[in-house]
Amino acid sequence: PDTGCLSIIVLGASGDLAKKKTFPALFNLYRQGFLPPDEVHIFGYARTKLSDDDLRDRIRGYLSHGKDNGEELSKFLQLIKYVSGAYDAEEGFRALDKAIFEHEVSTKSSEGSARRLFYLALPPSVYPSVCKMIKLYCTNKSDLGGWTRIVVEKPFGKDLASAEQLSSQIGELFDEPQIYRIDHYLGKELVQNLLVLRFANRFFLPLWNRDNIDNVQIVFREDFGTEGRGGYFDEYGIIRDIIQNHLLQVFCLIAMEKPISIRPEHIRDEKVKVLQSVEPIKEEEVVLGQYEGYTADPTVPDNSNTPTFATVILRIHNERWEGVPFILKAGKALNSRKAEVRVQFKDVPGDIFRCQKQGRNEFVIRLQPSEAIYMKLTVKQPGLEMSTVQSELDLSYRQRYSGVTIPEAYERLILDTIRGDQQHFVRRDELKEAWEIFTPLLHRIDRGEKKTVLYKPGSRGPTEADELLQRAGYVQTHGY
Ligand code: BG6
Repeated sequence: PDTGCLSIIVLGASGDLAKKKTFPALFNLYRQGFLPPDEVHIFGYARTKLSDDDLRDRIRGYLSHGKDNGEELSKFLQLIKYVSGAYDAEEGFRALDKAIFEHEVSTKSSEGSARRLFYLALPPSVYPSVCKMIKLYCTNKSDLGGWTRIVVEKPFGKDLASAEQLSSQIGELFDEPQIYRIDHYLGKELVQNLLVLRFANRFFLPLWNRDNIDNVQIVFREDFGTEGRGGYFDEYGIIRDIIQNHLLQVFCLIAMEKPISIRPEHIRDEKVKVLQSVEPIKEEEVVLGQYEGYTADPTVPDNSNTPTFATVILRIHNERWEGVPFILKAGKALNSRKAEVRVQFKDVPGDIFRCQKQGRNEFVIRLQPSEAIYMKLTVKQPGLEMSTVQSELDLSYRQRYSGVTIPEAYERLILDTIRGDQQHFVRRDELKEAWEIFTPLLHRIDRGEKKTVLYKPGSRGPTEADELLQRAGYVQTHGY
């Protein structure tokens, strides 16, 4: 049932993820009435010994957004309780269970049913022990209904073998419908729009294939480096941090076949199929970069070969996409912050205007910042002469939906976990396929067999990446 008592337990409550993402998302949901105070309690759990008020003080500053929402904020903070304990200790989890249970019996509207949502804002190394403790001591035992769900964050492993091991360890304790693997890109407004754009518009249906599309770029750029996260980052690198998850999810939504329906399982089935159709990555279709100064971080070894930039071409072996390169590109410390999908169409055959040097048709979905969807097309230059020019059909969200607040990814995803909707979460077999694709390349990088090239911070990244783009058939067009 989706009513009654709800306990949200944030494990790793004093960590960065909890403070910056989880609690702010919960506060926003509370403000919009999704967490009714007579049903919901939030529990923080971590090793540090703190009082309820200590935890509230630690997170308060992350929730106010500079706005004066004092009264609401205080009421929200009153919903939060704190329990301290180790991540592998029976007593801590027994104490947690007791606190949750007290809340459940005191909640009149629960009528015996109890929902328990465990959010693991923790490093994956402790997932197995924490899941075991939850299973043994903290699952909902009410025989009148309710559920226990687990929310986990990437990195889910470091390669195929370690991811499979982690999946099995958690899978022995909880069933797949209880496990929510967050990829926060799936909570972004324009990522959620991809399915609608593709399958609710007659325009695209006949064009979305190798006959019409020349190449697809899925790009993530950040204009800052790994500041303060060098230790974590150096162990993972840009492919594990961004490409294998965030960009690959976007890739699935762009490339998959039409699902039978919009039911989560149908959508995820199609994602798995397209991942299974990806060919092995070719060495010559990968460029890796590292920005100058990256190793100056004291937590990064001087001889690190970890990429902070990568361009990787994926090729799909199926009837729709044979021969079309999908160029996945991600980089830190570049010249701008942007995430977008750029679908470039082929040239018009027998072009009577001889205008193709001006550029090709493109369909662009800008995920962030300033969400927008636009099409680049050729029109007549207004005036007496018959000349052509590149222009845009532009749906800019800021103008078109000016009064609408676009929800934060985490807000939406946490609400989905409460509602039991797994559409925007990564299924176990999807994760396995994603690791299958990248593991051989990652192992070559880890062994130092595939080297990174240096690039200047604040640049476009290595010039080798632009050359690869051209070799793949991308034609730079005018405009934006
Ligand atoms: C995270 C990565 O998953 O996504 C970070 O670990 C990255 O390295 C972040 O900065 C980007 O998220 P967003 O939503 O700002 O694009």
